[in-house]
Amino acid sequence: MSGTIVVGSQWGDEGKGKVVDVFSAKADLVVRYQGGANAGHTLQVDGKQTILHLVPSGVLHESTKCVIAAGVVLDVATIAQEIRALKTNGLLQNPTQLLISDSCTLILPYHKRLDAAREKALGNEKIGTTGKGIGPAYEERASRKAVLFGDLFQPDSLREKIEASIKEKNFLLENYYKEEPINVDSVMEELKPLTDELAPYRCKDTSLIVHKALKVKKKVLFEGAQGSLLDLLHGTYPFVTSSSTIAGSALVGTGIGPGGIEKVVAITKAYTTRVGSGPFPTELDDELGAKLRDVGKEYGATTGRERRCGWLDLVALKYAIRVNGITNIALMKLDVLSGFEKIKVCHAYELDGETITEYPVTPGDLARCKPLYKELVGWSEDITGAVDMKDLPIQATDYIQFVGNELATPIDVVSVGPGRKQTLWLKPLFA
Ligand code: IMP
Repeated sequence: MSGTIVVGSQWGDEGKGKVVDVFSAKADLVVRYQGGANAGHTLQVDGKQTILHLVPSGVLHESTKCVIAAGVVLDVATIAQEIRALKTNGLLQNPTQLLISDSCTLILPYHKRLDAAREKALGNEKIGTTGKGIGPAYEERASRKAVLFGDLFQPDSLREKIEASIKEKNFLLENYYKEEPINVDSVMEELKPLTDELAPYRCKDTSLIVHKALKVKKKVLFEGAQGSLLDLLHGTYPFVTSSSTIAGSALVGTGIGPGGIEKVVAITKAYTTRVGSGPFPTELDDELGAKLRDVGKEYGATTGRERRCGWLDLVALKYAIRVNGITNIALMKLDVLSGFEKIKVCHAYELDGETITEYPVTPGDLARCKPLYKELVGWSEDITGAVDMKDLPIQATDYIQFVGNELATPIDVVSVGPGRKQTLWLKPLFA
């Protein structure tokens, strides 16, 4: 067994990109299996910032192969742009480093238009999507009318497929949302150069590549996008994304069985953030929340939106541990908590006068939950230069220990800053 799945255990933006980047130095293969350009990883390497939306973070290591598997919804314009930027920075020099599955669902301009039109129509009830067309693209896949990445390379039938798909979207755009229709010719024109550009990365069957790698015990890292609480089935519905974000999705999205998976690592921020609408019991609407946002630079990598910030929520995390089968934790951004005199951690909720410790899955219940807190003593020292657990103030190690004990799950990695070196390893990820 040599597969490790990395998932976000909160509402996304936990720092998966950095962990996957650091872990993938030791991985043979890194696989993206769900979501699309709604994800955004900001990576800080050698003082240079790289933002990736679709290409797996493993691309920063020349010897690590990167796979974009069937479960991903692919915006070809965005990925082509990302590839160009990587190449300009001296990365991805060998096209065989990146393999894109022919089975990926394409996101086309009309999916984005529909996403925006729907959000506009929802007004105050909007989901707060990233506007990247994710929902409409997954819907189309489920309706069995999606255009796939492999279809781009079938010029004889491509136009017909796109026409069939646009017809429905245009009907909705024009008649229901009262928006301008989409022109087929302009979509075809946009796709032509992108098809040529992406042809070197095309792979008919990425599931086979991953299967073979696992069989010979190569180290395979599955890189999740978004967070567990945004899962379509098990998240805070309807304020969720349109894919399944929990660990099981790595198997479905890639097309492999569970046998090859050794670990499920939860990337967990030392506090909580959320972008978009939806309930968030530990949200801080005060200067403490603003301080977390400022110090933690909590602004979306994809949309630039301010992230809502609050204390760590153990009830939600225990739920994430259960639905993902999490075996290990990477605790991120601990340095952001420096300078807080007291640090609160939510250990239970009050729901309709009762104390509960199990996360309520019924839509609406979470919005009525009030957090019950334990208060821990904070620390004032800057910990961004720590290279070992011994360098941390006692209050910080107490915090780590408290969280690990409450979650009954080992914390293997603690991150104290955005750089690769600002990572404290309590245990190695790969033996
Ligand atoms: P969508 O995925 O663009 O449809 O957006 C649905 C919800 O998921 C919105 O609340 C988004 O803000 C949220 N979301 C989508 N991707 C991410 C992510 O990578 N990080 C955090 N939130 C996300």
